[in-house]
Amino acid sequence: MANLSIRNLDDAIRDEIRLRAARNGRSVEDEVRVILREASQGGHTAAAGLPQEPPSTAPNSREILRQHEGSQPKVTLIVGGGIAAYKSLDLIRRMKERGIHVRVVLTQAAQRFVTALAASALSNERAYTDLFDPQSEFDAGHIRLARECDLIVVAPATADLMAKMANGHADDLASAILLASNKPILIAPAMNPLMWGNAATRRNVAQLQRDGIRMIGPNAGEMAERNEAGVGRMAEPTEIAEAANTLLRPQRPQPLKGKRVLITAGPTHEPIDPVRYIANRSSGKQGYAIADAARAAGADVILVSGPVELDEPRGVNVKHVESARDMLAAVEAALPVDIAIFAAAVADWRVVNEGAQKLKKKAGEAMAPLQLTENPDILATISKLEANRPPLVIGFAAETEHLIDNATAKIKRKGCDWIVANDVSPATGIMGGDSNTVNLLTRDKATGEIAVDSWAPMSKEDVAATLVARIASSVTKDNA
Ligand SMILES: Cc1cc2nc3c(=O)[nH]c(=O)nc-3n(C[C@H](O)[C@H](O)[C@H](O)COP(=O)(O)O)c2cc1C
Repeated sequence: MANLSIRNLDDAIRDEIRLRAARNGRSVEDEVRVILREASQGGHTAAAGLPQEPPSTAPNSREILRQHEGSQPKVTLIVGGGIAAYKSLDLIRRMKERGIHVRVVLTQAAQRFVTALAASALSNERAYTDLFDPQSEFDAGHIRLARECDLIVVAPATADLMAKMANGHADDLASAILLASNKPILIAPAMNPLMWGNAATRRNVAQLQRDGIRMIGPNAGEMAERNEAGVGRMAEPTEIAEAANTLLRPQRPQPLKGKRVLITAGPTHEPIDPVRYIANRSSGKQGYAIADAARAAGADVILVSGPVELDEPRGVNVKHVESARDMLAAVEAALPVDIAIFAAAVADWRVVNEGAQKLKKKAGEAMAPLQLTENPDILATISKLEANRPPLVIGFAAETEHLIDNATAKIKRKGCDWIVANDVSPATGIMGGDSNTVNLLTRDKATGEIAVDSWAPMSKEDVAATLVARIASSVTKDNA
């Protein structure tokens, strides 16, 4: 639906709508929605006549908003002026991925780090920056931004913004919204460790906690400033989006509660000598996303991860390994589990003549050929276990040709129950990328028949959520 904008209407109609809104105690935007709703239901109201509607029988603004925009929860995201502001652009995407409607407010300082244009392009909404903006303040827009949402998220929450919140300042749009709000507030502090440890910030944090403000992070780690590390990094966008989602949808169903789920992810590194190794291009993103989705579904998750550049998902038990043999040992140690998902790209071969010391180049001499031997096949080993075989074993087949044929052969050869097959030929950009196009092959336990379900291209998070939903419905069916 087109955006509602009364700025484009005639002055007379605009004044009439403002008057009517004031009489009915609604914002102008809400009043226009009421008028449109009535018009679409064949009511007598039209923009020209604008008869007054009795306030008592009118749906409240929250109901109107819900009808207008579906049941999406709404977040007002306030971006403070810290170096982590660039991550807030990603946070907009992460919240939208979770079906959250986002409206962005940038402080003056935030606009030195990111632009309102980028924030509005990503949120598909106007981004707000100015308390005294005549275009949004003719009907006290800061009050609407404070109230027409289900949650306010402040990320990054600068030391300055936290001080203002703790002391009730309202001298700019962000602080005025925070002071005028009656909604839950979640802040993600981000600052230099010395600022975070400063007595003034400690006092402000304590005050904010007393005031019922929720907080996520800051995390420990390296700072943007050279050679600085400590507590002060903003929590990662996915962590903040998850925390927001939990606050917005606290009663999310947990279909995998009580289930132990084992997931492998990432590549393996097979040593050539103490400094060199054979690896592959797997990023681990898909396996990590599945771990996160399984945890969100209530499962007790063990993630056995090869070497990756990803942050550990919250609430997941992560075991880091290097080689295929280490990975198998960690997988065996994690048994018994209810569900095992083998998303790691395990190296098929390892070097037999691995150098105990760094192999030296000798002028004019070719390197001794590397002798390779087959690695243990983790998927087949676990699928064929006599004792402790997980009731549901899922493998991944990354293929560059004959995808379904190869995946069908693999499900039979390995003895697993399901295979998630994806085409990883370089043109797809899947290896290391953020999206995935998969086919789910499932083997009927009774008949052995294999069914193929082709999914539309989607983000790796959505693949994870869809897979976990399929697992949940299969587990529920088996238990029935
Ligand atoms: C390069 C640069 C990076 C900054 N990073 C941070 C930061 O990470 N956290 C913080 O609290 N302040 C940081 N500041 C200071 C804030 O920008 C400053 O306190 C500002 O007044 C905050 O305004 P706001 O809270 O209205 O957004 C930084 C300043 C500069 C110049």
